[in-house]
Amino acid sequence: MYVLEAVLAALSFQVVAATPVSLHSEHARSPYSVKETHFVPRGWTASDQPPHPNQLLDIKIGLKNKKFADLERHLYEVSLPTHHRYRQHFSKEEVDDLVRPDEEASALINEFLQDHGVSVKSCKYSSARDWITISLPVSQVEKMLNTKYSVYKHEDGTSMIRTTEWSLPQHLHEHISTIQPTTAFLRASPQIQTVLESPGVDLNEDDYPPTTTELISTCNWEGVTPACLRLLYGTDSYTPQSPNSSIAFTNYLGQVANRSDAAQFLSMFRPDAVSTASAFEQISIAGGAIDNGTAGAGYEGNLDIQTIAGQTFPMNLISYSTGGSPPFQPDLLTPTNTNEPYLDWLEYVSNQEDVPQTISTSYGDDEQTVPLSYAQSVCEGFAQLGLRGVSVLFSSGDFGVGSNGTCFSNDGKNTSMFLPAFPASCPYITAVGGTRNYPEEVAYDFRNGYVSGSGFSNYFAQPAYQKDSGVVDKYIDSLDGEFDGMYNKSGRAYPDVSAQGYRYIVIYGGAVVSLDGTSASCPTVASTISLVNDALMADGQAPLGFLNPWLYTGAGEKAFTDVVNGSSIGCDSAGFHAAEGWDVASGFGTPQFPVMLDILGLNSSSS
Ligand SMILES: *[C@@H]1O[C@H](CO)[C@@H](O)[C@H](O)[C@H]1NC(C)=O
Ligand SMILES: *[C@@H]1O[C@H](CO)[C@@H](O)[C@H](O)[C@H]1NC(C)=O
Ligand SMILES: *[C@@H]1O[C@H](CO)[C@@H](O)[C@H](O)[C@H]1NC(C)=O
Ligand SMILES: *[C@@H]1O[C@H](CO)[C@@H](O)[C@H](O)[C@H]1NC(C)=O
Ligand SMILES: *[C@@H]1O[C@H](CO)[C@@H](O)[C@H](O)[C@H]1NC(C)=O
Ligand SMILES: *[C@@H]1O[C@H](CO)[C@@H](O)[C@H](O)[C@H]1NC(C)=O
Ligand SMILES: *[C@@H]1O[C@H](CO)[C@@H](O)[C@H](O)[C@H]1NC(C)=O
Ligand SMILES: *[C@@H]1O[C@H](CO)[C@@H](O)[C@H](O)[C@H]1NC(C)=O
Repeated sequence: MYVLEAVLAALSFQVVAATPVSLHSEHARSPYSVKETHFVPRGWTASDQPPHPNQLLDIKIGLKNKKFADLERHLYEVSLPTHHRYRQHFSKEEVDDLVRPDEEASALINEFLQDHGVSVKSCKYSSARDWITISLPVSQVEKMLNTKYSVYKHEDGTSMIRTTEWSLPQHLHEHISTIQPTTAFLRASPQIQTVLESPGVDLNEDDYPPTTTELISTCNWEGVTPACLRLLYGTDSYTPQSPNSSIAFTNYLGQVANRSDAAQFLSMFRPDAVSTASAFEQISIAGGAIDNGTAGAGYEGNLDIQTIAGQTFPMNLISYSTGGSPPFQPDLLTPTNTNEPYLDWLEYVSNQEDVPQTISTSYGDDEQTVPLSYAQSVCEGFAQLGLRGVSVLFSSGDFGVGSNGTCFSNDGKNTSMFLPAFPASCPYITAVGGTRNYPEEVAYDFRNGYVSGSGFSNYFAQPAYQKDSGVVDKYIDSLDGEFDGMYNKSGRAYPDVSAQGYRYIVIYGGAVVSLDGTSASCPTVASTISLVNDALMADGQAPLGFLNPWLYTGAGEKAFTDVVNGSSIGCDSAGFHAAEGWDVASGFGTPQFPVMLDILGLNSSSS
């Protein structure tokens, strides 16, 4: 009842009835042509049932950033240690100025919206006015984009409203980069693999729980703890000092970081940090679920909070929860969320004056599930954060070079290929792979099919920092033709770095579980980087910001331990192998915090 009323109210409010505003510009009559076509990814099929014509969609219109080349140049300059503008990051206002669309573009798009009876008053604009969000019924969006939406069902039972092709009047093509939801089938899956029945270190046996002292004195590679990670990466004797430094992680798909589980975990493994469990800030974006004291937990959310709090206490810690989680139920006339979580999250953070210096995200999907324009828009959003001085890190994925039996192109040709992951493939983020054991090797766990992800983007070219360093081309040469045709030699290669991503001990619902995944690696590298950022800020300096130009001009080789064993098994092959120096299976390897402080000229208390 409530839901129906809400929809009807919204309709009468937003749709200007009967006669469309008449427009006299020649543009209004410019003919439509196809703006974008995208194939339906594996696992999805169109159902017979069309969406209800009054179903509301939260449409996001992304205006093209015509000055992105400028923005990218600024990003590289402020991120490159040898440049005189190194770490002279931009303010929110300066970034907004760089992405703000020109007046002509804004006017033409407003004209187009009005022409379709959309009141400009019902549109929400991002602070740089480069994103327009508006709730409209499916039938109206279909007219505006000359398309037909379908309800697509995934083999796992979830559903989404999407289309495979949409159009715009020709004169708008150059001004609009993407409109979603249309053709993006991304589902932002957590990069986590659960092994519940057998939690590593015989934790259900009589000797459970192991004492804190036992765990601190010896790393147990079957049950990794904060004490082990801090020892391994050299952060154990550093205490964050700057009151203004902060680290954040993101939750999607209804994942929640549970405070009581975090308290239990920290009391077992980082007793001095227990207060973080109640102190960390939770921010709900677009209705994202948070721990409200009565319910809420998720393996991913718990892994993130416990891993980060265990390594960064007492730094400020923020958990962002963005709504928009499937399952979408096509039979209910619910105002549906767009399920485009990165756009909602990006819009929120780019509107904030203050953003955390380090942000970890452990979600991803196959690159080919999203259209190029969407990937570009999201990736450019991460570039904006980098320019503002944020180190943005993503997991590299959990299926090696691709899950066995699924490694085919989606373009209708069904050619065999390795499957790169997005956002790991975005050149403006730092992608983090997983390792296990000691000496560390590329992580895999055949009990659940987990293998640390790696690959070469088909959307993003090899960025300047990789090209200039020569390490990627050198690695490709060393393959001597192996896997030719399965990967894109000119694409952005990832991961950039790695960390332990195997059998982390996590408390979930009061019980001990053991979790695998680059979902564990990403918050661990982010934790280390956040401590470096803290040390810089405590010294009155700017934080590292976008890491990759720093990594690929020496820091990667100096301040990371090379991983030389293992490979990113997948696509029914051995996958890319680790090697001496940078390799696409592990990047530069795993962090050495004291060396990072040294090369930045900071005092290292632990060396
Ligand atoms: C922390 O941030 C506040 C507000 O921006 C500023 O006034 C203060 O000087 C900063 N403190 C330190 C130690 O950097
Ligand atoms: C708490 O969160 C849960 C799950 O997100 C939700 O179902 C419940 O209604 C919320 N309770 C309150 C009091 O907000
Ligand atoms: C998470 O925390 C609350 C207490 O804040 C607890 O009652 C709840 O059951 C916990 N676990 C789950 C799975 O929601
Ligand atoms: C693609 O090719 C593989 C192997 O030849 C086959 O198993 C699969 O069914 C094909 N998929 C499609 C969508 O044609
Ligand atoms: C790599 O693997 C080989 C063979 O298992 C082993 O002998 C060697 O110690 C490993 N080296 C490192 C650095 O992991
Ligand atoms: C390979 O990557 C480049 C971008 O670097 C892209 O233009 C090209 O289309 C990609 N090739 C394939 C087969 O996807
Ligand atoms: C480094 O040492 C100098 C002089 O000993 C001191 O003033 C400064 O605060 C120290 N910086 C850090 C980050 O510890
Ligand atoms: C995938 O295939 C590779 C190579 O054939 C094999 O070694 C590996 O065990 C397979 N992975 C899984 C999870 O079955």
